[in-house]
Amino acid sequence: MFATMGALGLAPTAQATSREAAFRAPQGSDFTLTGRGAAKVVIVGGGIAGLATAYELGKAGYDCTVLEARGRTGGRNFTVRSGDSTVDSYGNRQTARFSDGQYMNAGPGRIPQWMVTMDYCRELGVPLEVFTNTNANAYVFNEKAGMKAPVRYRTAKADVYGYVSELLAKATDSGALDKALTGEDQDRLMEFLKDFGDLGDKLSYDGSERRGFTVDPAAAGTPGVPLGAVPTASEVFASGVGRYFSFEFGYDQAMLMFQPVGGMDRIPVALTKAVGGQRIRTGAAVTEITDRADGVSVTYTHGGRTRTLDADYCVAALPPNILAKTPHNLGPAVQSALEACKPSSAGKIGLEYRSRWWERDHRIYGGITETDMDLAHIWYPSYGFHGERGLVIGYYNYDRQADAYAKLTPREREARAVAQGVKINGEKYRSELASSFSHHWRQTPYLEAAWHSMEGGPDAAVFAPLNKAAGRVYFAGDHLSHTDAWQHGAFTSARKAVTALHARVLAG
Ligand code: FAD
Ligand code: ALA
Repeated sequence: MFATMGALGLAPTAQATSREAAFRAPQGSDFTLTGRGAAKVVIVGGGIAGLATAYELGKAGYDCTVLEARGRTGGRNFTVRSGDSTVDSYGNRQTARFSDGQYMNAGPGRIPQWMVTMDYCRELGVPLEVFTNTNANAYVFNEKAGMKAPVRYRTAKADVYGYVSELLAKATDSGALDKALTGEDQDRLMEFLKDFGDLGDKLSYDGSERRGFTVDPAAAGTPGVPLGAVPTASEVFASGVGRYFSFEFGYDQAMLMFQPVGGMDRIPVALTKAVGGQRIRTGAAVTEITDRADGVSVTYTHGGRTRTLDADYCVAALPPNILAKTPHNLGPAVQSALEACKPSSAGKIGLEYRSRWWERDHRIYGGITETDMDLAHIWYPSYGFHGERGLVIGYYNYDRQADAYAKLTPREREARAVAQGVKINGEKYRSELASSFSHHWRQTPYLEAAWHSMEGGPDAAVFAPLNKAAGRVYFAGDHLSHTDAWQHGAFTSARKAVTALHARVLAG
């Protein structure tokens, strides 16, 4: 009967679990013919994965309780606004002093079009706007590679594409590709290279209007003055500017990208509302998970008291590095799998400015400046164009660079970020600064990671115990996906756990 229901689309099917696109949310009517009822589920962790689990199970009437250790839901999806306070594991206390309307996405900042995160935004009524992931007018500055001044992304691209095209055209012309391509295909390749590199008939690159102008083209009589001083091929390759261009080819980073209007936390805020405040306990830190033959007991502290919640099932949607430190009876294979999820570092600083000098003086409207400096990336805001104030992400860095900044006090982080950024953006990067707020994920209580390195990927044998139930305990989180460090991974892992749990409850 269950298989027939599946075929009629009335119950989750094996196909639904193996093909994400076929996810079908549990529904109350799934129970109509089974004589069974929805179960009681305790969900540990109120990040995207935990909230999505409660949201989807809630559609079929499951009695869900979310236990979240921190004072708010969202987990790594954290948008910092004026008045928000944090204390990191070094004891640094910060309170954001941003102006009204200014915010910093300390965790996730962008959403590709293909990810299910977009579908949840649609379903939950979270308005979206374009996030500018690449901008021809932003800069590239490789100080360590010896660059003396930043260049525009467009200029760097014109030079790299130009010289690469010239070299390939010359190689083709000299017969180097005779074995690889027919004469006709070589002609086609030459046509492509002439256009791709803007080579002209000489088949050599000696600059291009694509590099930009010192005086922009305008009315008749003002044809514009193209940027001069075209660097040599050797100078261009030595500067290393070309290393950033493949970023926009990535399946997960290609434009268009999107962001929720008003801050990324509009997503967990909407999920929290949809799940219902009465089902979520914040400030509830789970201290033990005990799986039994007939249920699960979850112990947690709340307001200084220790409590225990009994349920039919548990979904553990807390970071694996945190669960690894939490007493449980899920067995040594689960523990080894949790310990094999290696936490990674990342940090960001938000710099609020009194004026939007990057728009007025530099003509940069959103996008990212790429560097080989320890600040790694500078993000200009994709919201509030032409407003009075604006907030720039002054560093977004990872691993050792993030840990090095984390070891500084917030004031020192600001000073270092500004001293670096001035070299690219000029003195206003210092003089127009109003306030800053920095956040480091490896040093954030109850998270202690930006994301996780999973050797061999989430389907490697060592992680198998986390990809199925351990007794009555299921696992969810972006680490259990092929899109780690994306909310899509958290959502899809939650859907997988929900589908498996629901099928089990229906099957009895
Ligand atoms: P988490 O958010 O880690 O949630 C786990 C929850 O468990 C937390 O709320 C935690 O407080 C709670 N918890 C921990 N211990 C306990 C306990 N003992 N008891 C109860 N609760 C506990 N994604 C994108 O889509 N786009 C991006 O651009 C992007 N950029 C990112 C940039 C940065 C710097 C970072 C850090 C992340 C980024 N991500 C991005 C990834 C995204 O934030 C994550 O994929 C997603 O938020 C993970 O959700 P989760 O529920 O799996 O885990
Ligand atoms: N997914 C994260 C980002 O895009 C790492 O920044």
